[in-house]
Amino acid sequence: MDDNRSIVIFGGARGIGAAVARRFAASGARVFVGDVLADEGEALARENRTTFARCDVAQADEISALFDLAVAECGRIDVVFNNVGIARYGEVDGLSLEDWELTLRVNLTAQFLSCKRAVAEMKKSGGGVIVNTASILGHASQKTTSAYAASKAGVMALTRTVAIDHARDNIRCVSVSPGTIDTPLVQIAAQTFEGRDPEDLRREWADHHPLRRLGRPEEVAETVYFLASDKAGFITGSDILIDGGIRSELYAEKPGEPAQ
Ligand SMILES: NC(=O)c1ccc[n+]([C@@H]2O[C@H](COP(=O)([O-])OP(=O)(O)OC[C@H]3O[C@@H](n4cnc5c(N)ncnc54)[C@H](O)[C@@H]3O)[C@@H](O)[C@H]2O)c1
Repeated sequence: MDDNRSIVIFGGARGIGAAVARRFAASGARVFVGDVLADEGEALARENRTTFARCDVAQADEISALFDLAVAECGRIDVVFNNVGIARYGEVDGLSLEDWELTLRVNLTAQFLSCKRAVAEMKKSGGGVIVNTASILGHASQKTTSAYAASKAGVMALTRTVAIDHARDNIRCVSVSPGTIDTPLVQIAAQTFEGRDPEDLRREWADHHPLRRLGRPEEVAETVYFLASDKAGFITGSDILIDGGIRSELYAEKPGEPAQ
């Protein structure tokens, strides 16, 4: 409980973001969470020592407002976790321009806007760490994910560039690329396939990973906590895969085959 840093988390009301909020709060950090889900965000704030503000990252002024709140209360921002991600599916000839632009706006432009403000604040206070959530789909694509995959590849490129531009400002910038993590996003996705049992589907997705299970939000949170700490002081510009080995396997075993 001796972590006296402040962290701003975008997309922290549930899933991976909430696990990161809990991890930092448990260590004593001041945690500021922005999210569109007010009920979940307020419940998290009651359960942990966190401050919640409703924030839609598609709106530049709402990103600024969360930074303003954290600076007003703490005077400085040590860590920023840019974690919001949405997916709109479709082959390119069927995907609308609106869905493409919304995905890029929420997943990538919002991270640019947040990095812009984070860098300005961190320069004033002598440094800090920015962690951006990318995805395994920024490394390799699945069908119908062009918008999402492009946005996540963009997150990695943004991360690398912020890292080298601001290394001498004592600001590190890294990204994480989760494989399939058992969050509400994935649980809801499993319920949307008509005629398929959600539990069967989740098992199938788990089987695609060499470790033969889904990842846990807490496993991503531990990695983010480490990356934001001085123990990771020589890591910047990198993308860290947290993917149960899925990116390492060229020809996957058929789902259902027993793990060796
Ligand atoms: N779960 C996975 O398998 C997985 C895999 C790879 C990458 N990711 C990425 O990890 C991140 C977190 O995913 P998750 O699985 O925890 O998802 P989730 O949907 O459970 O959590 C995402 C959070 O972002 C919030 N959000 C959505 N749109 C927003 C907006 N416009 N403004 C503010 N908040 C908004 C949601 O309300 C939610 O609280 C995302 O960037 C996602 O792309 C997840």
